[in-house]
Amino acid sequence: MSTSSLPASDRSDVTARLRDALLGASFTADGLLELLGAPAYVALARSETVPALRATRGDTPLDTLVRLFLLQQPVPHSRVADVLPVAACLESGWLVPVGADPEGDLAATVDVRPYGGPGGEDWFIVSDLGRAVGGAGGIGSRGRQADTAVVLGVGGASTTLAGITVRTPVSAALDLGTGSGIQALHAVQHATRVTATDLNPRALHITALTLALSGAPAAELREGSLFEPVRGDETFDLIVSNPPFVISPGARLTYRDGGMGGDDLCRSLVQGAGERLNQGGFAQFLANWQHVEGEDWQDRLRAWVPRGCDAWIVQREVQDVTQYAELWLRDAGDHQGDASAYEARYNAWLDEFEARKVKAVGFGWITLRKTGAAVPSVTVEEWPHPIEQPLGEAIRAHFERLDFLRSHDDAALLAGHFKLAAEIIQEQVGPPGAEDPEHVVLRQNRGMRRATKVDTVGAGFAGVCDGSLSAGRILDAIAQLVHEDPVLLRDRTPAQIRLLVEQGFIEPA
Ligand SMILES: C[S@@+](CC[C@H](N)C(=O)[O-])C[C@H]1O[C@@H](n2cnc3c(N)ncnc32)[C@H](O)[C@@H]1O
Repeated sequence: MSTSSLPASDRSDVTARLRDALLGASFTADGLLELLGAPAYVALARSETVPALRATRGDTPLDTLVRLFLLQQPVPHSRVADVLPVAACLESGWLVPVGADPEGDLAATVDVRPYGGPGGEDWFIVSDLGRAVGGAGGIGSRGRQADTAVVLGVGGASTTLAGITVRTPVSAALDLGTGSGIQALHAVQHATRVTATDLNPRALHITALTLALSGAPAAELREGSLFEPVRGDETFDLIVSNPPFVISPGARLTYRDGGMGGDDLCRSLVQGAGERLNQGGFAQFLANWQHVEGEDWQDRLRAWVPRGCDAWIVQREVQDVTQYAELWLRDAGDHQGDASAYEARYNAWLDEFEARKVKAVGFGWITLRKTGAAVPSVTVEEWPHPIEQPLGEAIRAHFERLDFLRSHDDAALLAGHFKLAAEIIQEQVGPPGAEDPEHVVLRQNRGMRRATKVDTVGAGFAGVCDGSLSAGRILDAIAQLVHEDPVLLRDRTPAQIRLLVEQGFIEPA
């Protein structure tokens, strides 16, 4: 699959006219939802096109664009000419004639999908035809062999990474494995210079189209594997990667199979990021990791963290090896093909896991922050519960709180002033009618939506934190109330205060 079948990426004049035409016809995320209605809109994300085909039987400009660019239907030349600069789109390769008649039906050469930015921006994601959602087995690929170099659009993993990324203004950002360019599109909004890399030249070409059609600044595009395209002395303030993290028995699909054994690709990325980060910089990855017989998965991940970096690793899901193999067989559309080929592929997957003694695979996020601290803080945890996206700001604040804790010993902590974070509630758990709760849970409504068990001192402490009294003074008052020796209480409580700060229930005032 070369890039020759793709629209020209150096025709900014045509791309700008195309963008104007798309916006003029309300080919936007909001416009699409209004035209299709929520059920058909959501069905598209399940790779089901029938409801959307039914909803676009009209002849408005928006019907035309949805049929052309999202549903990949041929549309008569005359209808397209009412909406788009047809000659320019044909000449620059956005459209092609379907048959011999130049005045006959036209078809799009790429999938173009409206994508709403976080500030209400109207952006577009370009991807290979039929691959906007749902993996290689997505829309339009039924019965088709999955192409190895296919470039996918935005999936759940793409939006997860975009949401967890720390969005402070920076000078240099790297999007490694850019694909359709979605992470680069977000990054150019807050980074002065963005470098987008990919092993697949087709992806780099498509990234250029995504950025141009979205009216965004360009990124520097570099072809190559992992950190190869990064020059020796080059460092970044932000590195993001939604890499080909799938642990599979062979490199088959470039967008997902890293081609290194087991979870080596994710490990290499994480290990290699440390020396490419500027002081204070963040590296954020989506990753899969092996749960190997006789090994603690958390120890495995701790060993990946490069020197000089704090890390926060969150396991969001674990699948056993059969669920995992089936997930990716379906993603490639293998379940729709020949039964014996499916069985052979499934077996190859299980053979590979057996040989590596892998029992399960974890899915999650890895965030590194370069601090140079002699004793880095590394948190590896399981949090499969719902969270509030975008989480980027909560992630930035997590690392800021780690800095605070590192620089405050227990005496300094007790001298400090704290405020209860926004939207924390207290739940009391115990048998109905009981005078005292068995335990108290503090729960966050924001960010990670954490819940943590505290004792009555912890709950009382958090409740009083409004920034006015020092932590030590609050404990002295609590000691009086509960008839406890204030010295002992001051002695045993800092650990609990540390946890409440680390998890974001209370914040330094
Ligand atoms: C899962 S896709 C992510 C695409 C996009 N960044 C997103 O978030 O949707 C992974 C991308 O990594 C690229 N890739 C695969 N192997 C690579 C490697 N060794 N080095 C760099 N990129 C690679 C693929 O071509 C693909 O575009």
